[in-house]
Amino acid sequence: MRCLVVVVCVAVVVVSAVVTSAVPSTPDNLRPLINHQVWEVSGADGGGVVMGLAQSGVVDILGHTADSHTLRVAPTHATLVKAALRAAGLTHTITVHDLAAFLQKEEHLVHKRSTRAQVCTPDNCREPYADHYMKFDEMESYLRYIAKSPRTKVRSIGKSAEGRDIWLVHIKPIRGRAGKARVGEGKIKRKAMWIEGGIHAREWISSATAFHLIHNFLKQPSPTFDVYIVPMANPDGYVYTWTNDRLWRKNRGKTEGSCAGVDLNRNWDAHWGVGASGNPCSEVYMGSRAFSEPETRALKKEMESLNRNKKFDLVLSLHSYGQVILYPYGWTRTPAPDQPEMQRVGDIFAKAIQQKSGESYKAVNSAAGFYLASGATDDWAKEALGTRHVYTVELRDKGRYGFTLPADQIEPTAMEIWNALDAVLAVL
Ligand code: ARG
Ligand code: ZN
Repeated sequence: MRCLVVVVCVAVVVVSAVVTSAVPSTPDNLRPLINHQVWEVSGADGGGVVMGLAQSGVVDILGHTADSHTLRVAPTHATLVKAALRAAGLTHTITVHDLAAFLQKEEHLVHKRSTRAQVCTPDNCREPYADHYMKFDEMESYLRYIAKSPRTKVRSIGKSAEGRDIWLVHIKPIRGRAGKARVGEGKIKRKAMWIEGGIHAREWISSATAFHLIHNFLKQPSPTFDVYIVPMANPDGYVYTWTNDRLWRKNRGKTEGSCAGVDLNRNWDAHWGVGASGNPCSEVYMGSRAFSEPETRALKKEMESLNRNKKFDLVLSLHSYGQVILYPYGWTRTPAPDQPEMQRVGDIFAKAIQQKSGESYKAVNSAAGFYLASGATDDWAKEALGTRHVYTVELRDKGRYGFTLPADQIEPTAMEIWNALDAVLAVL
């Protein structure tokens, strides 16, 4: 500022200071959400109008039940969406008028931190945070710490689109104590399970839970089976939710158009293209071809190679929100092999959660109870690997906070899954 008249200049500085302190500025990662609204749509959407809007990149589906949808609507699309819903006979109410302002008010809940909170430094991080979400570099600090333990093997299975590592943690069983599973013709093998977290960037509770599962496995004497966990499958998207857009879902891969990112849970070669979008501006963009993205390619390659000799007994993909335990298929309503068995174990999973924490989860088939969507981890594991028990778990909550689940729910969410896993593994 060039101040010719000193008095005027001082006045300008004072006024601007008052203005900035009175109106807290919007954090960078909430800016894209200014004036975005949340619409609660009710009525059965027989014609798939809502999914059509999502596939054309006009709305973002935040959550849904059998006869309702929670949508994020950008101001530029409000008129169009309103007309489309009305034509389909669906009614809506606006529950949030400005998502940026709404989330900013709730930020203290998301980032709550108790006074005894531990703070990770690059070379000292002994525990994943229980009352705070970890940034990607803090996650890496924790991984560096546990990599020193003889009971784990931590290795990068590939790089993301922007060059970040995709880490795999192998927790080894104690020799001789390994739980055995019978495979065909009376052959015996050690049980193995695969857990994927964080494939959708905004679902912070997913990777937080995966890290707590790792921590719990390491606190125990030793698992009796091989545990493979990728706690953060989409590091670029996750970093982006911290820096640029809290509700970012996809990865950060380049696309043919001006919109970045591919929905990694639509990019697997599992009937790729059904119930997904070919529009790069859609939140459910499937990519230019199956496995176009380095993240899904890394996961696939590793899962295939491990499954060749370890044969997974269980594959879990952690997501949020909704409190449902989904089993394949998701791309068709035709039942998958082992459907009754997946329902049986899914019910055990749900019941165990209920008994531990009182929270209700329900086990349902993905396509029948949810919506048709292809190219996801679960369908690929079922078809390409032939895994018997495959689940996509939608963690807490049921929509009160959605993706911005307060940090004080990290520990209870992780614990209910941890305890239920015990019950599940006992009956596999
Ligand atoms: N919320 C998950 C998603 O939209 C559910 C995926 C379920 N699996 C499926 N194959 N449709 O990615
Ligand atoms: Zn998800």
